[in-house]
Order: sequence, then C-alpha cells, then structure tokens
Amino acid sequence: MSIRSSNVGYTSPSDFDVNIRTNTGFYPTAPLPRLPNGFAVWENALSTAKDKLVLGEDIPDNDHAQRATGERWREQIRTLPVIRTDVLNTDKQLLRRAHKVLTFLVHFYAHSIPPNELSGPITIPRSLVSPLLQVSKELGMAPVVTFSDVVSWNWEYINPELPFSAENVRFGVDLFGGSEDERNFFAGNGLVEIRGVEMLQIFNDYQLIPDVSSPSSMGKVNRLLARLTTIIQEISEIITSMRNTVDPQMFYWEVRPWLNGSGAGNRPEWIYEGVPDTSVLDLDGPSAGQSGVMHAVDTFLDIDHKLKARRQPAPSEENKRADRGFMERMRRYMPGRHRDYLSSLAANPRPVRELANNSPAIKDSYNGAVMALKKLRDAHVRIATLYVISMARSNPPPGCPLYAMQQRMERERAQQRGPATGTGGTQLSMLLKAGRDATHRAVLKND
Ligand code: HEM
Repeated sequence: MSIRSSNVGYTSPSDFDVNIRTNTGFYPTAPLPRLPNGFAVWENALSTAKDKLVLGEDIPDNDHAQRATGERWREQIRTLPVIRTDVLNTDKQLLRRAHKVLTFLVHFYAHSIPPNELSGPITIPRSLVSPLLQVSKELGMAPVVTFSDVVSWNWEYINPELPFSAENVRFGVDLFGGSEDERNFFAGNGLVEIRGVEMLQIFNDYQLIPDVSSPSSMGKVNRLLARLTTIIQEISEIITSMRNTVDPQMFYWEVRPWLNGSGAGNRPEWIYEGVPDTSVLDLDGPSAGQSGVMHAVDTFLDIDHKLKARRQPAPSEENKRADRGFMERMRRYMPGRHRDYLSSLAANPRPVRELANNSPAIKDSYNGAVMALKKLRDAHVRIATLYVISMARSNPPPGCPLYAMQQRMERERAQQRGPATGTGGTQLSMLLKAGRDATHRAVLKND
C-alpha cells in the first residue's frame, strides 16, 4: 500500500502544454492573432469570408449578388497555391493559428454553398486540405473545426497589460455568422474551461500528496474534494446561465449550422481532395464533448462512459444502446499533448475513487463531487433539449433570412435523418442521459 499511495511517477501538467501556474489551463498563454506574411492569402481569405459570406441556406434563390459573391470566394480558394507548412512546425503557436484559419476556411467553404447548387458530396479543395492535414498531423488532432479552434484559441486579452482572468478575456475573435449569440456561445464554453483550471490544480495537488492514505493526508484529500464539488457546482451555473445570453433559435438556426462537420445537418458529406478515403478522417466538427476540463474531471473521478466496469445500478437498455465510444472519440479532436495529459491522469497509480472506496473518511466527499457532476449533466441535458431537440421542431426566428425559406425547410426536414441535426434527437438524448447515468454509477455505496 505504501508504494501505491506514494506520488512516484508524477508528471507535471506543463509537460503536456497544460498551464496550471498561469491559470490558462488548456489555453495557450495568448493565442496568436495572425500568421506571418507568407500565409497572408489564408488570413485574407478568412477576413473576406467573415465580411462577405453567409450560410448557404440563408441565401434566397433570387439573391444573385450573394450567390456570385460566394462563388467568387470559393473559386479564389480553389485557385490558391498549395503552401508548404514545414516552417510552421518550429512553433506550436503558428501551428494552432494555421489549424484555426484553415479549418475556418473549410467550414466557410462547405457551408456557404446554397443547397440548390449541391448535387453530391462537397469537395474541399487541395489548397486547404494539403496544408491542413500536415498541420493537424503535427498537432495530433482532427482536420476540422474543433473546440480548440472556436474556444481555446479564439480569444484575446481585453487589457494585455493585466494578467489572465475570466474578466480580462474577450471570446469569439473569429466568428462565422458574427452574431452576439455565437460569441456568447463560445464564451459560455470558454468560461467553463477557465473555471475548470482550478480543478486541474486540485488534481495536481492530489497527485503531489506524498502518501495519500496516511491519516494526516485524509483531511487534505477531503478539502480538495470539497473544493472540487464547489467548482463543479459553479460550472453548472455557468452552463445554465447561457440561457440569458444565447437565444435558442439563433443558436439552432444561425450558429450551429456553421459548426456542423461532414454530412451533418441535412448537408452532403465532404470529400478532402487528394485523400484516397476521406471517410477515415475525423470530420465531426466541434463539440463541448472535446472540452479538456470536462474530460479531466471525468478521468479524475473515474466516470466509466464505456460501461466497462461492473457498477450499480446496472445500465438500462437505453444506456447500452447509446454511443459509448463518443467521449473517447472526442479526444481525437483535442491537441495530442492534451490527450496525453488525460492519459497520464488516468494512469494515476492511486485513483481517488479506489482510495475513497477503502477510506470511509473520504467516501462522502468523493460521492459529493460525483453527485455534483451528475447534477451538472442533468442541467446540461435540459439545456441541450431546449437548444437542440425543441428547436429542431421550431421555425427560424422572424427577421432571420431563413424565415422566408421556412416552407422549403419544412419539406426538407421531413426527409432529414433525425430531428436534431448532427446527432439525431433520440440518439442525442440517449447519449447525454447515458453520460449522466454513467456519472451517477460512480457513486460509492455504503456496503
Ligand atoms: C447552449 C449551450 C449548450 C448546448 C446547446 C449544448 C449541446 C450539446 C450537445 C447537442 C451535445 C451532444 C454532442 C454534440 O452534438 O456535440 C453536447 C455534449 C456535451 N456538452 Fe454541451 N451544450 C452546451 C453547453 C455546454 C457547455 C458550456 C459545456 C461545458 C464545457 C458542455 C459540455 C458538454 C459535454 C462534456 C458533452 C459530452 C457529453 C457529456 O459529457 O454529457 N456543453 N452538448
């Protein structure tokens, strides 16, 4: 027991690009605002896209000017030179900015095409695909817009003279549609990530305790778990408060469609030009299921999303039918170093759940943290139901260009794969409830 309880084998989060000392956690200390001049064509294309492009679905059939603008932009992308990216490999900041710019261009390209100009898969041109695949490989992450692109690398300091804090960060430096709802959606996710840094510090403090099972350490572990519980509760509040800043209709009709990956949301699959089989690539688009802090807390508390462990109550039939591999798959959308951090957290030789199971003195505080996380997922199920499942049955908001096209959307919706684009409504609800139930199942029983 004494070897298992010691902190031998500890690795510092900073070895995995996780900054707990600067309080930025999974964020870089400051995202790079622009690539060097050799890559100006990408940056310029992004600026034009932000200024001029709109969702393909939002373009009325008779708006020839907007159609021509979109087609000109896409034609320009198709004729861009294929730029080599080797020079970026020396600096992760350059790689991150390149990933963000290129993936934004991919989503602008795919989602700005009006539906009636689509007759098959959407081919993403080699000028974007080739550098994007190289950059993604270097970073060890999916070649599509990810949580990192829209949240972790998508902010700036309000006052660069002041230190990093939730109050000193402006989110949504780059946006697709450009609405305040879109910015606030990224900000809500971003604030969770910032609040979660203290959780990472707690996990680190736990790992640094020389001997966790010594009687003198019990008080410290209890205090860490109590702090963790409070932070999880605060994160629930952040998620719930997004109802005040993000309009559900705007989210569903104007924000989410830009974020959809290949083949989602009643749009065709994408083909990455020059790739022999695009279907092997991870092209799902961003999800808060890619949030580093959420994975970290699941890992620390040993939440079994894959239903591998024998825990009570046994999984329901619905739980078993849900997508058990979802969370593991979402890790492929994170930078490789962050995935490695999570693996190192999982490899902790003295998991807190096992410790709590053997130590009545800390069982309650462990269970308290798990129950807080279960309640967080209850609140999240309610949010996702309101913003996705209910909205799939709603009409676009008046004033939104989509409103005029509502009749056509109605007809198309009838042919759609599921009511909630991306993840079908039933599957979505099953997925989120399975995550909630898996969390509940981690609670340690008294016998
Ligand atoms: C308006 C706010 C939100 C909506 C509408 C929403 C919706 C969704 C949806 C539809 C999914 C299913 C997977 C997917 O399609 O991406 C999902 C998963 C997930 N979301 Fe959210 N979400 C919101 C905010 C947040 C926030 C702020 C967080 C915290 C970082 C979060 C954490 C998660 C996690 C961890 C998952 C994976 C499944 C799970 O662990 O239960 N979500 N969300």
